[in-house]
Amino acid sequence: MFNKRVKVKDLLSSAETGHEVTVMGWVRTFRNNQFIALNDGSTNNNLQVVVELGLLNEATLKRITTGASLKVTGQVVPSLGKGQKVEVKATALEILGDSDADKYPLQPKKHSLEFLREIAHLRFRTNTFGSVFRIRHSLAFAVHKFFNDKGFVYLHTPIITSSDAEGAGEMFRVTTLPFEDTPRNEDGTVNFKEDFFGKSANLTVSGQLEGELGAMAFSEIYTFGPTFRAENSNTTRHLAEFWMIEPEMAFYDIEDNMNLAEEFIRYLIQYALDNNREDIEFLDQRLTEEEKQKPQNERSELGLLQKLEFVLNNNFERITYTQAIDILLESPHYKKKKFKYDVKWGIDLQSEHERYLVEKHFKKPVIVTGYPKDIKSFYMRLNEDGKTVAAMDILAPGIGEIVGGSQREERLENLEKRMAEMHIPVEEMSYYLDTRRFGTVPHAGFGLGFERMVQFVTGMTNIRDVIPFARTPKNCEF
Ligand code: 4AD
Ligand code: MG
Repeated sequence: MFNKRVKVKDLLSSAETGHEVTVMGWVRTFRNNQFIALNDGSTNNNLQVVVELGLLNEATLKRITTGASLKVTGQVVPSLGKGQKVEVKATALEILGDSDADKYPLQPKKHSLEFLREIAHLRFRTNTFGSVFRIRHSLAFAVHKFFNDKGFVYLHTPIITSSDAEGAGEMFRVTTLPFEDTPRNEDGTVNFKEDFFGKSANLTVSGQLEGELGAMAFSEIYTFGPTFRAENSNTTRHLAEFWMIEPEMAFYDIEDNMNLAEEFIRYLIQYALDNNREDIEFLDQRLTEEEKQKPQNERSELGLLQKLEFVLNNNFERITYTQAIDILLESPHYKKKKFKYDVKWGIDLQSEHERYLVEKHFKKPVIVTGYPKDIKSFYMRLNEDGKTVAAMDILAPGIGEIVGGSQREERLENLEKRMAEMHIPVEEMSYYLDTRRFGTVPHAGFGLGFERMVQFVTGMTNIRDVIPFARTPKNCEF
């Protein structure tokens, strides 16, 4: 059998010695024609393989280069080297795949994150990305565990849809119509009746509307899937393709919603700390190094581990939009005219405003509720004041908005009125309104941007570095 191998992580975490094992992996370094640092992606810690003089001929030794893949059989022995308890004394070594040292782009030295983005197909083999993607995996697993343990139903909402859930219109079209000789109506517009679905279709921006349909039967559902936004935002927090978790709960009001979101975020952090301690410690050190390059006043006050522990041990601040505006207006920052965008009641909070609230004023995650209805989506529940809606955004240090959610408008007349005002096609959305016609209930939900959550837990500053292959404006490699 080929694959009777031991994983490096398991080998290194046991102190047992004397037995024979087979290990496989990729060479990180090879020193003195004798010491191989072998890595198989299970941990950042390499296994030291010792090749004794005379075991291999000169030609084979030359083929043990950085990036080459090996199968090694040998005896587990106590290690004299520092940093590891055991190592493997090779008795047989097979080169599974050569790696031309002159051409292999990953050298055993520090590469910039920008450079590694260009070779994203190989960057998994670095310590930084090894840690980031093992943590990403853990968080994805924890998402399912959290909701499963609470009895939520995982609902697969469609990727291709004909609705614009957010009413924001930033969608990628899905079509099989030809670019040339496109079928047209008499008035010159494209005739989508000829298209694959017989109507205009797009990639989903959110699974929420379908999620609500599920919640009206199962009480509590969640979605976890890719979503797509054609917003031309070239920032460290926006992707054109990102993953979102959207729970939707019947019999919840806005406060229940906030409580769940807060508990969820804490749970994910705790899960990563319990299961990925080593990787988080590695990234903590990486971040400290990176911060040293910055001027003193731009450095974060807390290290990564400290920040995560702080969030675990402190409640999120809860304020209304109106309070947020007042804080901003009274801030020294505003008085010294340091905000680029104007502050007054009714504005959409810009990321500079969000960051001020979270990083300078409260210095902890903040939940903002009660936004003006005109800057939020049609489905949010109108508050008694008639001006604001039961929306909630969670803002996190270093990230800004990490969660967006609301209590939904469950009253049919209110919803129809709002849809008409916002030019949402009521007829096409009749299926959605049915939930309000037949047994409507108070309900609420939110969306957590998965990559922003991974950024928060890993401390990575650019969102392109927490998704395997980023899709951003003018960039769709791999
Ligand atoms: O605030 P958003 O647009 O809310 C919704 O889509 C609702 N339907 C959610 C709901 O109530 N079920 O997006 C939710 C979250 C944001 O807070 C942010 O974390 C993330 O999704 N997000 C993005 N992440 C990466 N790249 C983008 N372009 C993102 N746009 C939103
Ligand atoms: Mg939002």
